[in-house]
Amino acid sequence: MTPRFRDLLALEPLSADELTFLLDQSKPFQEIQRHPLKKLATLRGKTIALAFFENSTRTRISFGTAASRLGADTMNLQAEASSLKKGETLLDTAYNLNAMKPDCFVMRHFASGAPTYVARHLDIPVVNAGDGTHEHPSQGLLDALTIRDRKGTINDLNVTILGDIQHSRVARSNIHLLGKFGCRFTLCGPSIWVPRELEKIAPGTSIRCVYRVEEALEGADVVIMLRVQTERLHEPSLSTGDRLRRAKPDAIVLHPGPMNRGIEITPEVADGSQSCVLEQVTNGVAVRMAILYLLVTGAAEDGSHPAIPQAVAHNRRATDKVPAKKDS
Ligand code: CP
Repeated sequence: MTPRFRDLLALEPLSADELTFLLDQSKPFQEIQRHPLKKLATLRGKTIALAFFENSTRTRISFGTAASRLGADTMNLQAEASSLKKGETLLDTAYNLNAMKPDCFVMRHFASGAPTYVARHLDIPVVNAGDGTHEHPSQGLLDALTIRDRKGTINDLNVTILGDIQHSRVARSNIHLLGKFGCRFTLCGPSIWVPRELEKIAPGTSIRCVYRVEEALEGADVVIMLRVQTERLHEPSLSTGDRLRRAKPDAIVLHPGPMNRGIEITPEVADGSQSCVLEQVTNGVAVRMAILYLLVTGAAEDGSHPAIPQAVAHNRRATDKVPAKKDS
């Protein structure tokens, strides 16, 4: 049965079946990213509002690209150049954008819970594109998709997260998703960023906090690096480098970006064969296409089976007619 979603605000409330459904729905859209013709007409005539009240490179452009590849139009709020600067409230801004009749509201905000608050007042689906230190659901999904592709599974893995975990919405979404599949977490960073209370944020999930990078990496299947906020760095670098040899030989390294090369990750690791950093970005478009498709068509709400395979098959037939690029 198709799970039902009206909004996508967090991964914590979703079951393992619902999360698997979302990952599976992203697969055909991964295929689209490899096609010479990447555009579908599935959401033609629909409009996605992109309301980013906090800076973003990957997430904003990825949702915009996902909308465009589904055939939808976008309306973009640039917070710095908006009437928020003149004192307009978040809710009035959301009501005004909604009055222009978008079909979905994708928002990032510096305050935890802001997308949930807005969702209570809008009659269209709301997608949380990262809120404060709460969650970043589409990042959690694209990370899981990347891990599943590389490791063949997201079950029972040893996952090490390094960096400022206390303030990381990415870490929370990773823990709430992968924890439901039996993954065990080791969190590591200076104690101010990795307080022991984090061991209790996902009851039923094995989480331990350690304070030595060498210990944290021992036996890891997956290493997730987080951005170190250099403005608050007063401990030695968390850079992986040589220490990565303590992880399993086939361990993979993820980073949600933006990266501080030479601070939390060395170029050798960021660009090495264990790195999945750019795969994460490519998978982000596929995951966001699935999210927008499911929420805007209502396929996830009315329980109907999505027509994604037909749309992708149509594109494949069209692609077959495009002459292959000749080697020079
Ligand atoms: N991963 C991520 O959220 O990056 P941006 O802040 O650039 O969107």
